[in-house]
Amino acid sequence: MNTILVTGGAGFIGSTFVLLTRQQGLARVVNLDLLTYAGNLMNLEALSGDPDHLFTVGDIGDRPLVQAMLERYRPRAVVNFAAESHVDRSIDGPEDFIQTNVVGTFHLLEECRRYWQALPAAQRERFRLLHVSTDEVYGSLAPDAPAFTENHPYAPNSPYSASKAASDHLVRAYHHTHGLPTITTNCSNNYGPRQFPEKLIPLLIVNGCKGAPLPIYGDGLNVRDWLYVEDHCQALHTVLDRGRVGEVYNIGGNCERSNLEIVRTVCRLLDQLDPAPARTPHEALITFVKDRPGHDRRYAIDAGKIQRELGWRPRETFATGLNQTIRWYLDNPCWLEAVQNGSYRDWIERHYGTNSAGPAATPTAPVRS
Ligand code: NAD
Ligand code: TYD
Repeated sequence: MNTILVTGGAGFIGSTFVLLTRQQGLARVVNLDLLTYAGNLMNLEALSGDPDHLFTVGDIGDRPLVQAMLERYRPRAVVNFAAESHVDRSIDGPEDFIQTNVVGTFHLLEECRRYWQALPAAQRERFRLLHVSTDEVYGSLAPDAPAFTENHPYAPNSPYSASKAASDHLVRAYHHTHGLPTITTNCSNNYGPRQFPEKLIPLLIVNGCKGAPLPIYGDGLNVRDWLYVEDHCQALHTVLDRGRVGEVYNIGGNCERSNLEIVRTVCRLLDQLDPAPARTPHEALITFVKDRPGHDRRYAIDAGKIQRELGWRPRETFATGLNQTIRWYLDNPCWLEAVQNGSYRDWIERHYGTNSAGPAATPTAPVRS
């Protein structure tokens, strides 16, 4: 049977990948997720009753469990999304990042190697381990420097990006040393439905809808390259089908924006889509707050390799992707209410120093128009 083992498939990108895989009938999906604060079974509700989506709660670092799942379901590929993924949390408490992103990936690699080595020749040939990583491993770019290619040296700056870099190196080493058929992808910042509202875009939407401050770190001129999550997941399927073993593919949206541009665009869309007089114009909610320590100034992805070799390119523009994203959050108040639970409110309070309504209005610089 055509089966894929997906790890971290209840999170933001993993659940989008699983939904897309099932909706397009591409494979049976076995989904292994620890259901940390970021994992959410509501993300997978559309698949309830689907006999070809099999969900297990568990840790990628639990070797007996991973071994048993590989033996039982005999996947033709493993796609590894499981990770701690938020930079600010990695600054606040890096231990889980080392445990899951480094040690967990190591255990997963060991079990994949053992499984793969025992496969019959034809299946061995076909097996793939696709490791999903980030552009943050390359470090920060100067304003006019060319975008990251796959050959850019690694220079991770946060505990999160250092842990992802370590996992990428382990994946590379398992291919180089053992011949494990791995492929690594490094993608830029994703946005879209079902993203946990600790990351910039969903946080702005959630706070904007509540009339709470929209916190912008530092001067707001840090630049990210935004990629719509479904475009990313289509790229991952392309790589899984036709990517060259042992290679790295950068995936990006060709969409560099400063954080100030992002917040202003979100505000304009909220003015149209959620025009409550009490919180319009939403730009009045923009609040400059203390900068993130070690805040990388700019990321940008050169996605030329995947485009040339595999013919992938993103379909959504930032305007269409962001419009769909905001509509999704407005249309899913139950999802939003469920994720803004006690532990979410604790994080917001600890990180932004405020009550549960949202970040405190303690600007370090005046809002400029
Ligand atoms: P997320 O935080 O939304 O989801 C992570 C998922 O992994 C959650 O469902 C969580 O429960 C699960 N998980 C955590 N630890 C686990 C463990 N030990 N065992 C099993 N499951 C575990 O993250 P995301 O945004 O969906 O990111 C997915 C992957 O893509 C990550 O590897 C991340 O580094 C990478 N990535 C994300 C972005 C982005 O913009 N979100 C950009 C580049 C790369
Ligand atoms: P984030 O979504 O955390 O992704 P990453 O740090 O992995 O790129 O942040 C995106 C950008 O937005 C980054 O430059 C930090 C900034 N940011 C804010 O200005 N305010 C916030 O409250 C958050 C969470 C992020």
